[in-house]
Amino acid sequence: MTGATPLSPDDPRLAELAAQWRSAYIHIPFCASVCPYCDFAVVAGQDELTDRYVTALISEIEMHPDWETLDAVFLGGGTPSRLSPALLQKVIDALRNKFGLSSDAEVSMEVNPEDWDAAYAEDIAAGGITRASFGAQSFDDDILERLGRNHRAHHITSAVEAARQQGLSVSLDLMFGEPSESIESWARSVGSALDLGVAHLSMYALTVEKGTELSRLVLDGAEAPDEDDQADKYELAFEAVQAAGLVRYEVSNAASPGHVCRYNMSVWAQGDYVSFGLGAHGHIGGVRRRNVRRLDRYLTEVEADRRPTAGEDRIKEWAAELERLMLGLRRAAGVHMGVGGRTFVEASESAPFFEREIIEIQDGRLVVLQPLLTDSVIREILGLVDAGQIESGDC
Ligand SMILES: C[S@@+](CC[C@H](N)C(=O)[O-])C[C@H]1O[C@@H](n2cnc3c(N)ncnc32)[C@H](O)[C@@H]1O
Ligand code: SF4
Repeated sequence: MTGATPLSPDDPRLAELAAQWRSAYIHIPFCASVCPYCDFAVVAGQDELTDRYVTALISEIEMHPDWETLDAVFLGGGTPSRLSPALLQKVIDALRNKFGLSSDAEVSMEVNPEDWDAAYAEDIAAGGITRASFGAQSFDDDILERLGRNHRAHHITSAVEAARQQGLSVSLDLMFGEPSESIESWARSVGSALDLGVAHLSMYALTVEKGTELSRLVLDGAEAPDEDDQADKYELAFEAVQAAGLVRYEVSNAASPGHVCRYNMSVWAQGDYVSFGLGAHGHIGGVRRRNVRRLDRYLTEVEADRRPTAGEDRIKEWAAELERLMLGLRRAAGVHMGVGGRTFVEASESAPFFEREIIEIQDGRLVVLQPLLTDSVIREILGLVDAGQIESGDC
């Protein structure tokens, strides 16, 4: 897929190549408990349903129209590591039988560190998993406690070690800006992640999502994350990461060559992907499909031999062009100008962004040079749509 010598994670050729990759997303909603900040499609305390859920997933996969060989599979959650290796293997086998997996396919799963030991790692590697993405969040046990996490720093270290012994590609998710987290604590977390020598890091600012327990606490007067603090922590983290030899290839993601997350890369490139499981979203040939978000409904639909579709939308051309810009601008490689990009750079609204060196044109691509300001560039582009300067039917 990427040739013998891996391209740098931020290489525009890799960003374009990713549009050709075919991927599958599988959602596993089970969690031991619901973290206060989480708004994903999850259920807690219902592990007795895992067998039934996997049977439904396999039926849903079998019901799907035939499609192409998969280059990447992403088991996300929720907590895929709540499933036994045997259940995970059934899901991977169902995908292999239905679509086929390319010889170097990435088969990635999200893991909560406390779920993982040497025996589990050995079994899932034997079952076809090639990459483990651990929800580490922090190496500071006090912060982990405040985030409502069930693991502690020692779980992360031993989990990574076990994954490495199985030859898995290892990624860590870190989260910054919990209000009581000092800058020193955050710097130590980043340092600990880098000391482990992981091939991939995702680092997210703690966000207060509507409807979560955290948002209720904040409405009741609890301290909210501070944007300036989060900006400082972002800068610190990515400086340390780049100094350690990883390359930032998206606003929140860095990797060493050969270790980008192929599934995410294909999504950011508007590639096609199928999706299965609770609340999962797929995209094939300009049509977006989403599954129902309630577990009982998901199970009864599939058990009645119906695809559990909640909605399907054909994306209009101009909406696809906007989406191309919004996703593509998040990548360090930026995005081909296209009609939307040209309209933006020709509009007077883009001038301040060029003057302040927030954006630049590089070989016909629009690139954001200051990743923390990506959202403000995107807002400005959306403002042009509202003002009628990028019109439906233009692209
Ligand atoms: C949906 S979680 C699934 C992974 C796994 N269950 C876990 O929690 O570690 C994927 C990642 O999203 C990030 N995340 C979830 N909610 C977030 C929030 N409100 N703000 C920032 N990052 C968040 C976390 O870093 C987490 O590792
Ligand atoms: S953050 Fe992860 S473990 Fe926590 S509730 Fe969400 S999906 Fe589950």
